[in-house]
Amino acid sequence: MAKKPRKLLVTSALPYANGPIHIGHLVEYLQTDIWVRFQKLKGNNCTYICASDAHGTPIMLRARKEGISPEELVERYRIEHQQDFSGFHIAFDNYHSTHSEENHELVEQIYNNLVKKDLIERRTIQQAYDEEAGMFLPDRFLRGTCPRCNAQDQYGDNCEVCGATYSTSELKDPQSILSDTTPVQRDSEHLFFKLQNFAPMLQEWISGGAVDDGIARKLNEWFEAGLQDWDISRDAPYFGFRIPGTDDKYFYVWLDAPVGYLASFKNLCKKRSDLNFDEYFSVDSSVELYHFIGKDIVYFHALFWPSVLEGAGYRKPTSVFTHGFLTVNGQKMSKSRGTFIAAKTWLEHLDPECLRYYYAVKLGANIEDIDLNLEDFTAKINSDLVGKLVNIASRCAGFITRNFDGQLAEELEQPALYSLFVTTGDTIARHYEQREYSRAMREIMQLADRANQYIDERKPWVLAKDKKTASDVQAVCTQGLNLFRVLMIYLSPVLPAMAYKVAEFLDTGTEQWQSRSEPLLNKRINPFKPLMTRIDSASVEKMIEASKKAGQASTQPVKEKQDDKYISIDDFLKIDLRVATVISAAAVEGADKLLQVILDDGSGQRTVLAGIKSAYSADELTGRQVIVVANLKPRKMRFGTSEGMILAAGDDEIFLISPDNGAEPGMRVR
Ligand code: 2FM
Ligand code: ZN
Repeated sequence: MAKKPRKLLVTSALPYANGPIHIGHLVEYLQTDIWVRFQKLKGNNCTYICASDAHGTPIMLRARKEGISPEELVERYRIEHQQDFSGFHIAFDNYHSTHSEENHELVEQIYNNLVKKDLIERRTIQQAYDEEAGMFLPDRFLRGTCPRCNAQDQYGDNCEVCGATYSTSELKDPQSILSDTTPVQRDSEHLFFKLQNFAPMLQEWISGGAVDDGIARKLNEWFEAGLQDWDISRDAPYFGFRIPGTDDKYFYVWLDAPVGYLASFKNLCKKRSDLNFDEYFSVDSSVELYHFIGKDIVYFHALFWPSVLEGAGYRKPTSVFTHGFLTVNGQKMSKSRGTFIAAKTWLEHLDPECLRYYYAVKLGANIEDIDLNLEDFTAKINSDLVGKLVNIASRCAGFITRNFDGQLAEELEQPALYSLFVTTGDTIARHYEQREYSRAMREIMQLADRANQYIDERKPWVLAKDKKTASDVQAVCTQGLNLFRVLMIYLSPVLPAMAYKVAEFLDTGTEQWQSRSEPLLNKRINPFKPLMTRIDSASVEKMIEASKKAGQASTQPVKEKQDDKYISIDDFLKIDLRVATVISAAAVEGADKLLQVILDDGSGQRTVLAGIKSAYSADELTGRQVIVVANLKPRKMRFGTSEGMILAAGDDEIFLISPDNGAEPGMRVR
């Protein structure tokens, strides 16, 4: 008896509506889309939803800077994101927004339920307040001196030099990045969700397999450290939903964002009579609910979210599937290197299915980062998709069209080989189900090799030359095309556009996973059209160049809109820049990034602690001329005192700035 189809609801994390989708984001959306397409292909009742994540301070400030309302900004990106997603064949069943009527209602209802169950507590906390901007500052809007190592210009909540995390009230010399003024500490009443009450429930949920083992271990560390109650409120001004019963408090964006999953589904229920919200979200729901997320937001999805759902009387997720980040050519994506590639830029230069396939080749079910090595990418696509897969069809199709008027033979030449292809499908399906796409791709490509080997052995182009064997050509090409069809069914979650073209070519209509058991025989097919062409490295280069340009342009308008775009010449002259020669340099024990550099600045020696160790060795610096900020107030750091700053260019990389030959130590730079 056929198995009953499963009911599944699947989500990807909701992207913030204040910036373009890039290839880093796409890891998750493609991973999810492949899984959803696989479930649908298997005949399961699977619904895939997403939405724009609309709220929060960065969106509010970005809109202000552009002189538009946050609603306008969010709507603009909601449309742009949907275009990008559809360009990559990411097929949501619904794409909504967290700034929606459905979300507003659900958030209020969830909050009221939590209040009724005494799960919300009011506490007064001290928070940094920017008097000039007239607002409380989120951690990332504060910069100051690290309370542990005294490194300057560090974030409000963590130090990039020594890695310490701390609370904003500990930060020394705090400055607001909005107004460059010193914030004051102000009391504010905040609302806390009693997360601690949920520890036993969470531990049971986690040990029941709701997350992968690696994540479960990480969560256990957090349990051991003790769960903290969660501040779910933010003070005005804030772009979000106002908290009922308050005038100036808003729900923190991370409270209403996951509720956006429910809201998007609720919105879909209004459009589709076959879906029922309660069936999917009541406590006893038998529908499977899966969230695909990145490893940076595990805390929100595996601790806060199940607890909020439980507290508010809803079902919990069946599982949270976590993936790693993307690197390009082994490094973090970088605007200056042109590897910060927007979805739109990719689509202007390369086929989206190539990225779908390459990510599939790289993705497993773990949280390891995946690397897009652009050379390997080009080679892999040309070898696997063009050289192996498409080649099978292009070697067989012409004979069937030209010599047999498009008619396939009445039977398979090698039924056992066909059966092997069909039965391997069970292994491939298991890999897809377990999100082990790289394994699935490997199996499929081994079958593609086997199909090519069959054609090489049977040589239809030789058979066609001899009248006695001419009819064998139909049998061989029918076999070859049938093997190709099975491979295309297996690849259709990854290559949906190509699968669509193949279904037209073979005149099959939409395929299901099961349809592979029946070969295509004694039927007419359509003339073959090219399915994919080789990637040439020039297209990749052009894409990188375009991304570099886009990276430069993206920072431009924001700068121009700042009121304080200029400094006066007097401001500039306050900085005493001098040529200096490196006398010696040495690593600083215990500091990953620092070198202790002794300089001759023309008037004597000075010691500077410079964060340049990742780019320069102590030896190569000796004797080199650099530019130093000579009148910077000496800074006491954990590893000693730094008397100045050495100038360097670059965001991700470090390039020291040196004068031309002939400059002397002590010369003024202007
Ligand atoms: O980290 C992010 O990009 C968030 N916008 C993800 C939200 S996922 C969900 F909770 F809405
Ligand atoms: Zn520090």
